[in-house]
Amino acid sequence: MNLFDAIQQRRAVKTFDAACKIPEQDVKKILSMARLSPTAYNQQNYRFVIIQDPGIREKIKTAAHGQAQVSDASLLIVLCADTKAWEKNTEQYWSNTTADLQKAKLQAMQQYYLNREQAQRDEAMRSCALAAQNMMLTAKAMHYDSCPMIGFDFDAVAKLIQLPADHVISMMLAIGKASQAALPRFPQLADEQLIFFDSF
Ligand SMILES: Cc1cc2nc3c(=O)[nH]c(=O)nc-3n(C[C@H](O)[C@H](O)[C@H](O)COP(=O)(O)O)c2cc1C
Repeated sequence: MNLFDAIQQRRAVKTFDAACKIPEQDVKKILSMARLSPTAYNQQNYRFVIIQDPGIREKIKTAAHGQAQVSDASLLIVLCADTKAWEKNTEQYWSNTTADLQKAKLQAMQQYYLNREQAQRDEAMRSCALAAQNMMLTAKAMHYDSCPMIGFDFDAVAKLIQLPADHVISMMLAIGKASQAALPRFPQLADEQLIFFDSF
């Protein structure tokens, strides 16, 4: 499936075939495409927690107000990010470049995030959102369906996955085979409401 068709055909699916198993190589493909999404300063701050344990799935489902996607999707991923990736082992992000470039990048990155909690959190959300879109489109291109999710108790899920204190959850992603087609596309806002030239 080409990219345009994957974008057109991706929908947020609510009902998954619980019997569908995604082969390991397809899961790997989805994750490898996620990892090609861009991150600021190449910090790769996203962390993907794949929920395999049915018991944890059930608990997450309760935290997600009983949404069936959580238990029935073949693959459930909690997209998290390390808000302090910008200050941890930073040499690994540009290790194949010159010492000068590494130094310049490190300085710029420190300057950008140091003492800026909001910027650190924003970066977490940006990186995860870009990775999520890569995963959803890759899944669609492979004829799977998906549902991005924020309808859950973030604190409860954080506890269940033992989220480190300096990490945040961005969203969950359910991926599998739809057992029921999505409703027709919901209304799209007019271009004039969304697109501006030079200023608002
Ligand atoms: C960040 C995000 C969180 C969402 N959370 C949920 C959710 O918790 N449960 C759900 O059923 N749909 C969820 N959705 C799906 C949206 O309702 C859906 O994407 C939107 O209505 C547009 O429909 P479409 O994706 O099929 O085009 C979420 C979508 C996004 C992008």
